Amino acid sequence: LNYRVPRTRKEIYETLIKGLQRLEYRGYDSAGVAIDGNNNEDKERFIKLVKKRGKVKALEEELYKQDDLDSKTDFETHFGIAHTRWATHGVPSAINSHPQRSDKRNEFVVIHNGIITNYKDLRKFLESKGYEFESETDTETIPKLIKYMYDNRESEDTSFSALVERVIQQLEGAFALVFKSIHYPGEAVATRRGSPLLIGVRSKYKLSTEQIPVLYRTCNIENVKNICNSQMKRLDSSTCLHAVGDKAVEFFFASDASAIIEHTNRVIFLEDDDIAAVTDGKLSIHRLERSASDDPSRAIQTLQMELQQIMKGNFSAFMQKEIFEQPESVVNTMRGRVNFESSTVLLGGLKDHLKEIRRCRRLIIIGCGTSYHAAVATRQVLEELTELPVMVELASDFLDRNTPVFRDDVCFFISQSGETADTLMALRYCKERRALTVGITNTVGSSISRETDCGVHINAGPEIGVASTKAYTSQFVSLVMFGLMMSEDRISLQKRRQEIISGLKSLPEMIKEVLSLDEKIHDLALELYKQRSLLVMGRGYNYATCLEGALKIKEITYMHSEGILAGELKHGPLALIDKQMPVIMVIMKDPCFTKCQNALQQVTARQGRPIILCSKEDTESSKFAYKTIELPHTVDCLQGVLSVIPLQLLSFHLAVLRGYDVDFPRNLAKSVTVE
Ligand code: G6P
Repeated sequence: LNYRVPRTRKEIYETLIKGLQRLEYRGYDSAGVAIDGNNNEDKERFIKLVKKRGKVKALEEELYKQDDLDSKTDFETHFGIAHTRWATHGVPSAINSHPQRSDKRNEFVVIHNGIITNYKDLRKFLESKGYEFESETDTETIPKLIKYMYDNRESEDTSFSALVERVIQQLEGAFALVFKSIHYPGEAVATRRGSPLLIGVRSKYKLSTEQIPVLYRTCNIENVKNICNSQMKRLDSSTCLHAVGDKAVEFFFASDASAIIEHTNRVIFLEDDDIAAVTDGKLSIHRLERSASDDPSRAIQTLQMELQQIMKGNFSAFMQKEIFEQPESVVNTMRGRVNFESSTVLLGGLKDHLKEIRRCRRLIIIGCGTSYHAAVATRQVLEELTELPVMVELASDFLDRNTPVFRDDVCFFISQSGETADTLMALRYCKERRALTVGITNTVGSSISRETDCGVHINAGPEIGVASTKAYTSQFVSLVMFGLMMSEDRISLQKRRQEIISGLKSLPEMIKEVLSLDEKIHDLALELYKQRSLLVMGRGYNYATCLEGALKIKEITYMHSEGILAGELKHGPLALIDKQMPVIMVIMKDPCFTKCQNALQQVTARQGRPIILCSKEDTESSKFAYKTIELPHTVDCLQGVLSVIPLQLLSFHLAVLRGYDVDFPRNLAKSVTVE
């Protein structure tokens, strides 16, 4: 954050803390801030650093104990950094939290998302130069390395961004970094490789440019002027972004737009190896070297996200709000894409590649966690509608196996955040092998949406709850829409397509009906919340429902839960069944109905007491049920959108009853940007 108007420390802290709270879902085991101390010539400059273990609230309380809250900072330009951590290297503690520093004087401080994989070598090198490390983090090597670069700089006027450039040349792994230094007061430098980073721009005045030309450090300005194309001709003051008419322009660096959306919806998404510097209240963007594919400028984009979308409203948790948003979020996914009159589907982001996709030899769908489950849920209908072999893959395992991928494969990358490291690496792996890559994400401007050849935004709106809910149903619907688009010309499939499109039309109303079961599900949770274990069993279209339901339960209630394929029951899980073990069975009126009845018999024969999720019309299953939850019936391949919702609600109520913080499950983070 960068201010050019006088602010008190309290105002600066408030802005930073609010931003952290909006980002807290991404990590929440410790947090810290650093702001400029004073810049008075008579006094020694310093950076004020406050860090605390625990949630952002704990940091906020700590800050309010400070005695200089009402004093104005002495800078014309103010710049503060803050970070909330999800531990990778080193336990959650104040020392391990960020900002990390170069030395006891806080000459350089850094916040970091990602992992530095060569940190051991760097640490050894720096220790051999006499640097003493205080934390167990990989990050700490970075402020120490920049101090080393600073102490060994060849010229007094080496700029802050030139130092950062040198540092990142030594780093391996993934990072989004923001630096601050007492040697460059009021300045900020930010850079990224593999982890997301954006810059929010706020100004009351007209900006001097909407496109920031990229500068290349290897040339001096005169050379750059000569060699650059027309877009980069004016490399004087217009290379920097500032407001015309006045100086008041504010810049916000953040890993996620939700941190800054209350200040501005105008953002610049940085590319890997961009180095963005704010000096004298002006922003400029540099790169190390120019390559032919480089875009010579970064545009300011306007985001559609609204503050209200990231507020809880009347709900007690984001997850609960997001579950109840599903009647609208699935509509938003379909809006402008499904034409119910003509029974056609048009996904604008794929239309130019449709021919190529139709010619491919197989589809590979890759994701992690819930996103992977969306692929499992739609595999069968995709096989049916595309008449292609469909592989579904967990990104990490796909990479571990060095899975063969060919030029005539089409690879889908499903990710709510668009930033999951494993999925992103799998994307790069497939790109290297020249397959066509398709992104299915919920985050505009995310790495996956930018790096894929084409894609679909699921438009579910920001999802804050760590346990994914509405993104799942929107991913599900997006994949079904893709299948429908692929099968438009297949005469033999028209009846089926029609049936599915009608199913999509009535989906929002049916979701509402399922949500009205909330109280009943709450009562069920009252019966179950003291249990240690919960099995969820089903097959066919609803196997994914079981996997996803069990994942929700694990994630937020910390109960052991397993999604079991009913077809595998007799090959092991049956041994778990007795009077005590709670079993949820998903039995829908679909082609697997009879087989599910067999599984039900096997369970009741062992004195199991199944809680059955079934269709309203199903009198057969309910005869054997200990309890039933009756759902409206839709077309078989869409039933999973409905059947997952009672399990989302159940996990929510179980977690609340067990006294856990639904939106902040222990040890988990929303965007896992590390391998
Ligand atoms: C994390 C989250 C899950 C999510 C998974 C994949 O583990 O806690 O809720 O399903 O990442 O995330 P993505 O953003 O790629 O869908």
